[in-house]
Amino acid sequence: MKNKLNKLRAEFLEQLAQAKNSEHLRELELKFLSRKGQLSELMGGLKDLSADLKKEAGELANNVKQELQEKFLEMSQTLNLRVSKNSETDVTLPGNKLAQGHLNPITLVQSELEDIFLSLGFMILDGPELESDYYNFTALNVPPTHPARDMQDTFYVDYKNKDGQYDLLMRTQTSPVQIRAMQKYGAPLKALIPGRCFRNEATDARHEHTFYQVEGLLVGKDISFSNLKSFLEIVGQRLFGPNTKLRMRPKFFPFVEPGNNGEYTCFLCQGKGCRVCKNTGWLEIVGAGLVHPDVLRAGGIDPEVYSGLAFGFGLNRLAMLKYNINDVRLFNSGDLKFLEQF
Ligand code: PHE
Repeated sequence: MKNKLNKLRAEFLEQLAQAKNSEHLRELELKFLSRKGQLSELMGGLKDLSADLKKEAGELANNVKQELQEKFLEMSQTLNLRVSKNSETDVTLPGNKLAQGHLNPITLVQSELEDIFLSLGFMILDGPELESDYYNFTALNVPPTHPARDMQDTFYVDYKNKDGQYDLLMRTQTSPVQIRAMQKYGAPLKALIPGRCFRNEATDARHEHTFYQVEGLLVGKDISFSNLKSFLEIVGQRLFGPNTKLRMRPKFFPFVEPGNNGEYTCFLCQGKGCRVCKNTGWLEIVGAGLVHPDVLRAGGIDPEVYSGLAFGFGLNRLAMLKYNINDVRLFNSGDLKFLEQF
């Protein structure tokens, strides 16, 4: 042990004398002095020695350690000194740029929508991504045998409830949080619910298994279709500019009655017709409708007293239009070449 210590000491001092710069020093530190370095390794062997040998060798080891650390410190000071004496620092050179993170374009449009709705008095809510069959479908008027389930196939968790049913799934939409919000807060209610959703899709440039929606829900007395229309108009104008027009076309969603698709004047061509709006001058942006009485009931709200409106934006689509992104798969790709553009 003593021999080994002396050898290590000599080797270290010899190499230290030859060190020319801070990289050399770092290497030496790693090799000899660090927690996994040679000195630690040697000292780890102390515990296997007999008691009196251990005492002697231990003392030597401690002395060597102290000496080497001191010499190392001395050398690093001399080297640093030399560096600063020789170098001419140009303080006018620009500094090193700090790498700055970027917000995902989904986050950008989400914040934009949140700002609009916060200013309209909505609260922002969150809900579980792993949802029960009941909240995602049944409570939204889509019972187990309903054909509308086919349009939203998703990922089921291998877990059965006490009735032997597969009960847990990745939510296909943010709409289940409508029910949760009504159950928790009752009426009247104004809530905006951004969130991640999932569907069992064969992915391509326009389909993705993991995507984002923002749900809106307003429940109160005498809420009518004209409220929905004016609401969607305001949102469109805030999102795409004051000249934006809205047109509503009937569309079936099981949890609203009547249901519609909200389309806005294509902001790229000002409604003249272009490739993106397929020459129609309109962009399909939002699913919406008046909350179905059964859905209000599932949320514990009496449809004889209250009515409501609901709408859902697909955030990926909004961001794709806004930033001219041509492949939906880019959002989850983690590709910095993509993300750094925002
Ligand atoms: N949840 C619907 C979808 O994913 C969108 C929607 C929300 C429609 C609210 C109407 C009302 O397609």
